[in-house]
Amino acid sequence: MATTVLIGAQWGDEGKGKIIDVLSAQADWVVRYQGGNNAGHTVEIGRERFILHLIPSGILHPACRCIIGHGVVVDPLALLLELDGLRERGVDPAGRLFVSDRAHVVLPFHRLLDEQRELARTGGPLIGTTKRGIGPAYGDKASRVGLRMADLVAPNLPSLLRPRLEEQNRILAALGAPAMDAAAIEADYRAAAARLAPFVADTLPLLNDAVARGESVLFEGAQGTMLDIDYGTYPFVTSSNATAGGACTGSGIPPNRIDRVVGVIKAYTTRVGEGPFPTELKDEAGAWLRDSGQEFGATTGRPRRCGWFDAVIARHAVMINGVNWWAVTKLDVLDTVETIRLCTAYECDGRRLEHVPADARFLERCRPVYEDFGGWQCPTRDATRFQDLPKRARAYVARLEELTGVPVGLLSVGPRRESTIWLKPAGEKP
Ligand code: GDP
Ligand code: IMO
Ligand code: MG
Repeated sequence: MATTVLIGAQWGDEGKGKIIDVLSAQADWVVRYQGGNNAGHTVEIGRERFILHLIPSGILHPACRCIIGHGVVVDPLALLLELDGLRERGVDPAGRLFVSDRAHVVLPFHRLLDEQRELARTGGPLIGTTKRGIGPAYGDKASRVGLRMADLVAPNLPSLLRPRLEEQNRILAALGAPAMDAAAIEADYRAAAARLAPFVADTLPLLNDAVARGESVLFEGAQGTMLDIDYGTYPFVTSSNATAGGACTGSGIPPNRIDRVVGVIKAYTTRVGEGPFPTELKDEAGAWLRDSGQEFGATTGRPRRCGWFDAVIARHAVMINGVNWWAVTKLDVLDTVETIRLCTAYECDGRRLEHVPADARFLERCRPVYEDFGGWQCPTRDATRFQDLPKRARAYVARLEELTGVPVGLLSVGPRRESTIWLKPAGEKP
């Protein structure tokens, strides 16, 4: 049995939800460790399509227990909506979903401040956030003024909430935004607390005892390496550590208990929101990729920016996360492309770059160095074994391995569970 950390290696939306669903069939526990309901993880089972935002995707496997770790910021109202949505569809998380009492709570003013920043009312660059209040909630955590799930379910919640609401109303007034109705918010959060109390637990012993018993644990990363607050294209990033290290700090599992890291990577690249994206296709080829790959945000519905595979950021992800093997998704989207391009390095001011630079403004000026790859131009969706794939598709996979130095363990050729190909010898199951 093993502990596996699964991370996104690009700018999010790599298909982590689908891969988590496939791997959860073997997992006893699935744990979210960072982010919040800015995430949107899609799982397609038969004709059903689920989009999970806060609840780990493993919840769709009835035998799987799930943890929302303390590194996650939890919007209680959004969590209740998600719980209700799942129950309506016959999935009952009761008794197998645990929310860390140390997790910080997203409050209404976090969402409002997120919006105000996006309206450029507070200065600074536009990030194109999901407006779920994620940045301000992590900001309060770092400033040591946040409320945690333990506070939410405590009897003295009003005495903790009221001064914060009053303070934030003064800030909103200064920004010219309407004030919040403190009494109504208190009532909403008390009602939410009553419903969420049965899920709130000290997840540290729960998780560590499970690992000590040899149970299999899957850590479900949200966002992706290039959106990580430290390793991504700062400031065009999210506010948490989406990389593998976050699994330890955000769940309480020690680093020496992690057995492997799986990186999820699309066969091309997408990004939602602002910020540099060297291989972006701003022409009809990008629009074609967006339509063919159905690249629209699972959380906000925004069209995703699309471009070619970028081996520079993939190698960046390998270095930071220590990826043992790749799960490559959306290979099928490239089925009809005549010439596929692969970015192998960047060029800027006549210099060749092999690494992602720290400065987003500098990255903005980098141009991709491409190699062209003849496409396979036939369908891959029905393939269930690697040898069923067209020769050029197999060669593309081999080229991704060469360019990144990491083997491919799993290939995804469609959104559903069945459209998955395990590769040997890297394709060990957790
Ligand atoms: P996540 O945030 O990483 O979980 O990814 P999203 O769910 O936001 O976006 C991935 C999208 O691609 C979803 O609509 C999935 O159903 C879909 N998807 C996942 N794997 C594949 C695949 O191999 N082929 C195709 N065509 N779609 C896929
Ligand atoms: P999953 O888990 C793609 C992006 C936003 C914005 C930036 C900051 O589905 O892969 P935030 O609301 O976090 O403050 O926004 O990060 N972003 C995502 N992009 N997938 C996600 O999650 C994302 N979560 C946040 O678009 O650019
Ligand atoms: Mg997503």
